Amino acid sequence: MKNFYQPQAVIIKNIKIQTKDVKLFTLRFKKEKDQKNFFFVPGQFIEAGLFGFGEAPFALCSSNLNENFFQICVRRVGQLTEKMHKLKIGDEIQIRGPYGQGFLEINNSTNLLLIGGGIGLIPLRAVIQTIKDKGQNKNNKIILFYGAKNYNELLFKDEYKEWEKFLDLHIILEKPNSKWKGSIGLITALFNEPELLKTKSYQIKAFLCGPPIMYKFVIQKLKELKISDKNIFLSLERRMHCGVGICQHCAINSKYVCKDGPVFNLAEIQEMSF
Ligand SMILES: Cc1cc2nc3c(=O)[nH]c(=O)nc-3n(C[C@H](O)[C@H](O)[C@H](O)COP(=O)(O)OP(=O)(O)OC[C@H]3O[C@@H](n4cnc5c(N)ncnc54)[C@H](O)[C@@H]3O)c2cc1C
Ligand code: FES
Repeated sequence: MKNFYQPQAVIIKNIKIQTKDVKLFTLRFKKEKDQKNFFFVPGQFIEAGLFGFGEAPFALCSSNLNENFFQICVRRVGQLTEKMHKLKIGDEIQIRGPYGQGFLEINNSTNLLLIGGGIGLIPLRAVIQTIKDKGQNKNNKIILFYGAKNYNELLFKDEYKEWEKFLDLHIILEKPNSKWKGSIGLITALFNEPELLKTKSYQIKAFLCGPPIMYKFVIQKLKELKISDKNIFLSLERRMHCGVGICQHCAINSKYVCKDGPVFNLAEIQEMSF
């Protein structure tokens, strides 16, 4: 029987700086067998740790069709992430997982509205990269709304050109400098723009990840578009320890964010009534 607490060693294959506080790590299991057995759904997370520095949850952010490696993107905020940012290619990290419930198993016949605020783009990148590898049905649209404070905070900048081959990308910055020629303001301002929003609401699924304040206002917009609660999926963030529904740290009433989420649909969240 699999021991859910048993970490497995992964080796850092590449590190890419995204912003002054965020790095993208490309990881591969030390043991071939572990690499072969690793499969995740976009939206799921792993617990990553370093001996003596603890462990923390990180969203998987690469395509789930990639059998050779997987990626996490880490923002430096405290003890563990500070140490992770000092690691080099070839160093080891211990990981457990994947855990939780992700976004839907993505098929290519859904119109998707992806809405990411700040580092909320990280789990959505797994959706994007998976669709990129899977191929997109031409009759279906994918729109990405991405909001950040300023240009320097944007993640995955060198990937936008590739993404724009199969999705409509709309970026909005809250406080850009004078060189920025794009949209300025909060992410909700993007709702006036794209074609998808003329599509029938029952044909749209919305995936959201960002700060709680963003959810409040974006949900209002999605409701105005008459997208049903069961087609609005949100990734929640809670402090976690075990990651597997045992320690109670992430409990919201009868649900555990680690095990029953982190992705919930809006109807489920309303039932949790926190
Ligand atoms: C499901 C899930 C997925 C996540 N995915 C990512 C990811 O892809 N990339 C990433 O960089 N981070 C992610 N996080 C957050 C990450 O796990 C925390 O930032 C982690 O605690 C950092 O560890 P640390 O030891 O460096 O900092 P800590 O010492 O644990 O914390 C440093 C500071 O961050 C605050 N903090 C820590 N965790 C949280 C939290 N959950 N909510 C609010 N404030 C918090 C603390 O209060 C403190 O001020 C995720 C969290 C969850 C629950
Ligand atoms: S983190 Fe332990 S129950 Fe969710």
